Amino acid sequence: MVKIKLQSKDRYEGLLNAPHRAFLRSIGFSDDDIGKPLVAVVAAWSEAGPCNIHTLQLATHVKEGVRRGGGSPLTVPTIVVNDNIGMGTEGMRYSLVSREVIADTIEAQINAHAFDGFVGIGGCDKTTPGILMAMARLNIPAVYLYGGTAEPGFYGNLKLTIEDVHEAVGAYLAGKITEDELYEIEKRAHPTYGTCAGMFTANTMAAIAEALGMALPGSASPPATSARRVMYAVESGVALMNVMELGIKPRDVMTYEAFENAITVLMAMGGSTNAILHLLAIAYEAGVKLTLDDFDRISRRVPYIASLRPGGDYVMADLDAVGGVPLVMLKLLKAGLLNGKALTITGKTVEENLRDYRFPNVKHEHIVRDVSTPIKPWGGIRILKGSLAPEGAVIKVAATDIMRFEGRARPFNSEEDAFQAIRRGEIRPGDVVVIRYEGPKGGPGMPEMLRVTAAIVGAGLGKDVALVTDGRFSGATRGLMVGHVAPEAAVGGPIAIVEDGDRILIDVENGRLELLLPEEEIRRRLKNWQPLPPRYTRGLLAKYASLVSSASMGAVTLPRQ
Ligand code: FES
Repeated sequence: MVKIKLQSKDRYEGLLNAPHRAFLRSIGFSDDDIGKPLVAVVAAWSEAGPCNIHTLQLATHVKEGVRRGGGSPLTVPTIVVNDNIGMGTEGMRYSLVSREVIADTIEAQINAHAFDGFVGIGGCDKTTPGILMAMARLNIPAVYLYGGTAEPGFYGNLKLTIEDVHEAVGAYLAGKITEDELYEIEKRAHPTYGTCAGMFTANTMAAIAEALGMALPGSASPPATSARRVMYAVESGVALMNVMELGIKPRDVMTYEAFENAITVLMAMGGSTNAILHLLAIAYEAGVKLTLDDFDRISRRVPYIASLRPGGDYVMADLDAVGGVPLVMLKLLKAGLLNGKALTITGKTVEENLRDYRFPNVKHEHIVRDVSTPIKPWGGIRILKGSLAPEGAVIKVAATDIMRFEGRARPFNSEEDAFQAIRRGEIRPGDVVVIRYEGPKGGPGMPEMLRVTAAIVGAGLGKDVALVTDGRFSGATRGLMVGHVAPEAAVGGPIAIVEDGDRILIDVENGRLELLLPEEEIRRRLKNWQPLPPRYTRGLLAKYASLVSSASMGAVTLPRQ
């Protein structure tokens, strides 16, 4: 017995709704089908890359579960922008933008067709947060299902991910490997369909969906090629019908405590910095007040315990073999760092789910340590503030050992200019590469700087050169890289007034990002600052730039007042 009000009844019952029913009949619905809750299986699907190429297939299994649970399922699509294909190009500007498009297209399809609930199937980086944003916004029964990670590739004894191809390009440009070696790495790096193999953004967001309570326990980590994906697909359909019956809605699950749990797991796993933007955006849609200070507070109390790439040695498929995200959560729960009382889409609490979960009886300490013997005593991501980032900035400390760096500024007004300077060998040890006008408005869309960061690391400068940007980083980025600097250059943030040779201090321990200039000089330069003309004046990117908020608010798009 379903406890929620079914919006499909108003659309498809009664004589006056005969025209609407006629369309359901024309796609094969019987009277019996029409009488049941109408469920959307939203597949973020595309053949344009390996990340989501199989989600339509998974949707057929989800539908089986929905039918088993007494619902009438229909598959509807949403878009995918495969980040790795846009990386380092104009295409990357569409990546974060696609998160909003995904949330908006789901809203449009669910409301336009009066669905009563949905299972959302994601994969590539922006699909998971876009789907979770739609779940929080629509607040109808919903379950998230991840499409799954790719398996790692091998080159000799070296375990490969897509990160290795980017760094191999940097190594090739620096004359450290041959063209043939680059070709071999390219051929072997991503050997199956599914998302990028490390704890990069896609896998991080899948883990977060689980930690938030919106996905079935254990469903984040099985590879896309695993038979357990099919099992989780069927069970996600059944779970959706169960939450409908129980009357559980996304905002009952995505509470402040659930976000605290998600941040805790993010910090313990050294996940992608992009998760900060996405969690802020999902919280905004859920009506939960979450700020950068919450991330800072939690990162100071939660240790980094999972050795996952890019900060560590293992990939998502390795984590899966030893117990997946529930293993990390169990260790955090036992240490009193996780809120076990938070409700999840199983209808049970986090604590109850972990008690029922069947963990494999295998050695796992090489991948996931105990909280008492962590890899680092603090979380994998820290928040920095200071004269260069008054609203905040983000640094991934899981992927670097350097806690303090002072150097001379080398500002560039685009990612491309910075990349060319690295190519020409103009970046030297002691430099802080500043890439600006790449924020939410300026980019627009905060493109990821993986090409630049990989070129720095590939050139062997990862320990001697820092990077500061109002853009974003790929989850695969490593080295001393500070991103999400807010306010961004396009709105006159202090990053806009950095000049060649200025001194910049990155102080992770004390959470500071400082432009080492007298206050009067900063004020004088800010007064004289002139905005650059926008990069786009028409089309999606121009629309997005006019509506998007600061990175410190998750770069959500807000209606104009
Ligand atoms: Fe899709 Fe990495 S590009 S997950």
